[in-house]
This record gives sequence, C-alpha cells and structure tokens, in this order.
Amino acid sequence: MSQFDYIKEIAKYGLENDQQKLLFSLNELIEYSKKTRKVNFAIQLQSILKDVTKQRHRNGLTKIGSPIHYQPMVDGEVSDLILEKLTSEYSFDNLVCSEQVREQLHFFIKEHKSRKLLQKYDLPVSNKLLLHGTSGCGKTLASYVLAGELKKPMIVVNLGAIVSSKLGQTSKNLAKIFRKASTEDCILFFDEFDSLGKLRDYNQDHAEMKRVVNSLLQLFDYLPQTSIVIAATNQKNMVDNALLRRFDTSIEFPLPDIENIKDLVRLVLKNGHFQFDSLNVLQEFVDSVQGLSYFSIKKILITAIKRSLFERQNDIWENKIIVQTDIWRELLLKEKQEFSKD
Ligand SMILES: Nc1ncnc2c1ncn2[C@@H]1O[C@H](COP(=O)(O)OP(=O)(O)OP(=O)(O)O)[C@@H](O)[C@H]1O
Ligand SMILES: [Mg+2]
Repeated sequence: MSQFDYIKEIAKYGLENDQQKLLFSLNELIEYSKKTRKVNFAIQLQSILKDVTKQRHRNGLTKIGSPIHYQPMVDGEVSDLILEKLTSEYSFDNLVCSEQVREQLHFFIKEHKSRKLLQKYDLPVSNKLLLHGTSGCGKTLASYVLAGELKKPMIVVNLGAIVSSKLGQTSKNLAKIFRKASTEDCILFFDEFDSLGKLRDYNQDHAEMKRVVNSLLQLFDYLPQTSIVIAATNQKNMVDNALLRRFDTSIEFPLPDIENIKDLVRLVLKNGHFQFDSLNVLQEFVDSVQGLSYFSIKKILITAIKRSLFERQNDIWENKIIVQTDIWRELLLKEKQEFSKD
C-alpha cells in the first residue's frame, strides 16, 4: 500500500464514522511512515493520536485503538521525551563520507579526548554539534559513530513528543534530561531537531513553544564542558536561528558523489565477497544511482544481493556471489518510481 492508499482508507472510515477501522488504518500509516523514513510525520501523527486518546479518557469514553499500537503515556515524565538510550558499536569504518566531513568529525572527537589539555590552556571544548543535510545521508549514523568512537552511551531525545506532553512541563523535563546526561556522562542526541520548528504550524500555543526554545537556549549556554549535545536535521531552515547559532560545529551531509557511491558499494559488497557481473556493470550501477541517498543505494544493493543469493543457490562461483543485473535494475527502477511519487 502507498501513503495515498492509507489516506484514502482513513478518509473513508472517518466519513463512515468507523472508529475501530479508522484507528487501525491510522496506526498502519504511522508504521508505514516510520518504515519509509518519514519519522517526523510519524511522530506528529502519533502525537495527534495520543492527544485524542487522552482527551477521550478524560471525557470518560471507551478506550480506543488497537492495544498493540496504543502505548500508555505518563504525563510529564522525562521518559516521554526520551526515545531510547543506547550504546553504540559503530566506528568510522561504517560511515562513507567526504574527507572534509571525516576530518570535522575527527576533530570533534579529538576535542573531547583532549579536554584536559584544552582546559589547561583555558580553551573551550566544542560540545554542541549540528548534523544537517539530505535525508538518508548519514546524520543519525554519524551520531552513532561518534557515540561508538567516544565510547559513551547516547540518549536520543524525541522533541516531537513535546506536542503531546503536558505543555507547561516541557522546559522542566528538558532541564532534567540535560542533568541526567551530564551526571551519567552520556551524549544527548536530538534527532529530527526541526520538529520543534514544525510544532509552530499546528500547535496554537506559540508562547509555550517560545518558552521551550528559550529554555533550550539557556541549557545550551550553560552546558558543562564535559557534556555533549548532538542535533540532526534534514530541514535546517526550520530551526530557530538563535538555536542554530549555539552550535560550535555544523557538518553537512550531502548526497553521495561518484567516489562516495563507489566507497559505499565496496562497503556493501564486503570488499569483493559479492560482485557485479563485470566492471562495466559496476560502472553502470554507480552512474545510475546518482542522485539517490546512501540509504536508498544501500537498500537496493542489499536487496539485490539477497535475491541473487536466493535465485542462484547452486551457482556460487569460487564462493563469490554475483549480484544479478536484471534484479538490481528492477529494484532501482522501483526505488526511483517510489521517490517520484513522494
Ligand atoms: N554516509 C553513509 N555511509 C554509510 N551508510 C549510510 C550513510 N548514510 C546513510 N547510510 C545508510 O542509510 C541508513 C540511514 O541513514 P541515516 O539514518 O543516518 O540517515 P539520516 O541522514 O539520519 O536521514 P534522516 O534525515 O531521514 O533522519 C544508515 O543506517 C545506513 O545504513
Ligand atoms: Mg536521521
């Protein structure tokens, strides 16, 4: 099903007043949006759903929504804003990027590893990093790489949840999260940092949004040198300018160029364990995936490898698996069609 099919279903059940089916389709659309990397949209839908569900509870109406999707929320809890806490095994080997990006990330790590040296000379440590650029080009991945390289756990903060959390509590909750991160020596990661700006569009309480931005500004300003904040966005223009200025380092993650694509292909092909039919075909692949994100290219290639493996089980030559040309061409076509639909 495509996004449009879900919307059609939702419209139909809404008009027919069939709450059960409407909620089921809405939840399906949320899951679909997460899978197709429209995380912001999914978070916003989830927030609307939670709000309405809460309201109905207050009004004493029956509980709605499938129990699988319905996640109870405790008002005002810090946990509402924390998406997950994770430790990372990722290293620079997992990330394909330009030399320039790699260097900037290395410097950021170096600042923290050499914190004592910098402090000895009364030099500030860069601890606020903004990762921005096209979707599927490695911002979230880079944050995992930083957590892995710095060997620090990472708290992923869900700014989108602010919409549905008890509004007056948000600033306090943010302060609590910052404190938690500094006492536990964690990296604080604000993924989808632009969601804060987007909230203005459909949340009438502008004053509250301003309070949230102001408390973030203050928390950024008084961030201890030992703490690290990373924020990622694919819509930098949606982020408040005053917030943007607080970052010491800003790194852009653009679409891959030819060299990046070749590096990504090498990484996915596991340095030759899987192979294209010929060098010409490899070149054709590299040329034809230009304009797609790392995420899409990797997805096409991995799916093609798996399907080739299933189809040619008895035809494995010298332990090398050939990525079938007809398979990847078809997948590429589908990906491009899917891309143009959105
Ligand atoms: N530069 C990269 N090098 C290697 N793999 C990458 C790179 N960028 C993306 N990928 C692959 O695509 C997946 C998704 O990338 P990631 O989540 O980092 O994108 P993003 O920039 O955060 O996108 P969004 O803006 O949509 O959140 C990664 O887990 C990885 O498998
Ligand atoms: Mg991301």
